[in-house]
Amino acid sequence: MDALHPTPKIHVIHENDAWVEPLRAAFDELKLPYDEWFLSEGVLDLESVPPEGVFYNRMSASSHTRDHRYAAELTGGVLRWLESHGRRVVNDTRALRLEISKIEQYEALKSYGIRTPRTLAAVGKKHLVEAARKMAGPFITKHNRAGKGLGVKLFQDVASLERHVASAEFEDSVDGITLIQEYIRATEPFITRVEFVGGEFLYAVRVDTSLGFELCPADACQVGDAFCPVGEQPAPAAAPRFRIVENFQSPLIEKYRRFIADHGIGIAGIEFITDARGEVYTYDVNTNTNYNPAAEAEAGKYGMRAIAAYLGRELHTLARRNVRAA
Ligand SMILES: Nc1ncnc2c1ncn2[C@@H]1O[C@H](COP(=O)(O)OP(=O)(O)O)[C@@H](O)[C@H]1O
Ligand SMILES: [Mg+2]
Repeated sequence: MDALHPTPKIHVIHENDAWVEPLRAAFDELKLPYDEWFLSEGVLDLESVPPEGVFYNRMSASSHTRDHRYAAELTGGVLRWLESHGRRVVNDTRALRLEISKIEQYEALKSYGIRTPRTLAAVGKKHLVEAARKMAGPFITKHNRAGKGLGVKLFQDVASLERHVASAEFEDSVDGITLIQEYIRATEPFITRVEFVGGEFLYAVRVDTSLGFELCPADACQVGDAFCPVGEQPAPAAAPRFRIVENFQSPLIEKYRRFIADHGIGIAGIEFITDARGEVYTYDVNTNTNYNPAAEAEAGKYGMRAIAAYLGRELHTLARRNVRAA
């Protein structure tokens, strides 16, 4: 490649160093050229031309909790600009739209025949209470723009929600939209998270929720966000909190696969719960996904390596195309 055609790289868009560490190691192992766009804030010059390469968007729904209030908004602009220039973007503007809104997720999932929990979205405390009156049984609140279990609380009745909403403890979602959602009671205390890399099923991992259902996997790790990040402390319980399911099979895999393919998503972790009647409810799509090191070591499967290899293949395809075009 000459100066006019600098060697294309993999560009990782994110706002949290800790989560990118295992990915850096995987890139180094495969000797892949990459750089990082840390988009907590910055300037986007709409007249400029983006560098060549493959762009991997890892912007997180919970970026505002790390003092990066507008990182997702900035990323939305950057992704749009990259797309106008025809750049290859893994997890593009459509993926980001899903990442930062559960309403977007549920509406999209439903159109693929994927069942989601009954949900009402409300803006304003009064309307939140009003929405809860429509629920038949126990329900939870959660933030529309969430990650790391933001705003997830269980209520048995409307009166306790009313008290909560009036208390100092109530915290509004960063986008002002709170969801009221039917509580899915699982017979066994676990949820399943299905991981996709390169648009293909990688593995499913079971996450023990017996330490309290309000705990999203990441809250237990004290590091934050969507899923168990690196450096997680082992749970006090004897059994590991995360376990990769051997030979996981489900008709959901194919539905999820089509859903992500149609939404510009190459990499994601999708969560579901099964209730006592065996009904399966999908309730969370994470386009910014992390993996549990202990569970991966036990199963001998490694998400970040799979991501690096996939992005490496994408880069290779791009380089071949550029050579042909030259
Ligand atoms: N409808 C539900 N019924 C029962 N538990 C739920 C429900 N929705 C979420 N949870 C629990 O709360 C956790 C966090 O909710 P989730 O929708 O994944 O939000 P986040 O995007 O913040 O991770 C889940 O991992 C699960 O354990
Ligand atoms: Mg979740």
